[in-house]
Amino acid sequence: MGLKEKFDLTGRRAVVTGGARGIGQACAEALAEYGVNLAIADILEQELAETTADLAKRYGVKTQGVVCDVTDSAAVDKLVEEGAAGLGGLDIFVNSVGITIWEPSISTSDEQWNKVINTNLNAAFYQSRAAGRQMLEQGQGSIIHIASMSGSIVNQPQAQTSYNASKAGLMHMVRSLAAEWASRGVRINTLSPGYTLSVMTYTVEEHFPYWNTLIPMGRMAEPEELVGALIYLASDAASYTTGHDLVIDGGYTCW
Ligand SMILES: NC(=O)c1ccc[n+]([C@@H]2O[C@H](COP(=O)([O-])OP(=O)(O)OC[C@H]3O[C@@H](n4cnc5c(N)ncnc54)[C@H](O)[C@@H]3O)[C@@H](O)[C@H]2O)c1
Repeated sequence: MGLKEKFDLTGRRAVVTGGARGIGQACAEALAEYGVNLAIADILEQELAETTADLAKRYGVKTQGVVCDVTDSAAVDKLVEEGAAGLGGLDIFVNSVGITIWEPSISTSDEQWNKVINTNLNAAFYQSRAAGRQMLEQGQGSIIHIASMSGSIVNQPQAQTSYNASKAGLMHMVRSLAAEWASRGVRINTLSPGYTLSVMTYTVEEHFPYWNTLIPMGRMAEPEELVGALIYLASDAASYTTGHDLVIDGGYTCW
């Protein structure tokens, strides 16, 4: 198979969670542009309906919107089972769900800690397990979790220990699953963005000028700048890539 053919995703089948907006939406769009049929899941019903309709119209792929809270493991099982049944199988699973809470650690409540760990780590396990079951049965598949540079470094000036710990945990969970499934055709990796322009960051826009001084490229990423790496990880071009954390951060982690 030639290299261009290895990047060809035409007719593949994917589930993307957290795909109604932001980085997840950019991932869904990139896959649609590559001819992938999609089930997109999110808790934002209106944005989800708009995204699925827009991608189907612009790229001529099949899209289905599924309202699903990924912290509910039964709902995740249903999402994957019904998504795979509707699409005729599952080649690619992308998890872009994530939340952050900024709070000094000594005043972080149990509720805050558990909410972040539940959404970013526990739900990532539920999603991996459900997608893994389907893909191991098929004997092939690629799972990609959007982690963060925060799984490798400590951001400043904001205190976000729960987020940093959740992303570090996610990365090591992915390495563990990669080792467990590597010989059975299922690959699993993390894609770790640096600061990216999205709703998550626009709510704290006043920090942009300082953050930009910490980034060798001097600016934050557009979501579209992350998705070339997603296409690579999803495709047969990455047939020997598993358990890897692909960092895309404008050089942030160099300093
Ligand atoms: N924006 C950044 O600077 C940045 C940097 C590194 C990593 N990330 C990671 O990228 C991912 C996407 O972040 P984003 O910036 O696009 O944020 P975002 O808030 O714009 O998008 C997150 C999406 O996840 C959905 N979501 C939240 N909780 C959910 C749940 N329980 N079930 C289903 N859907 C749920 C939201 O509705 C939203 O559509 C996250 O994992 C985040 O941690 C973001």
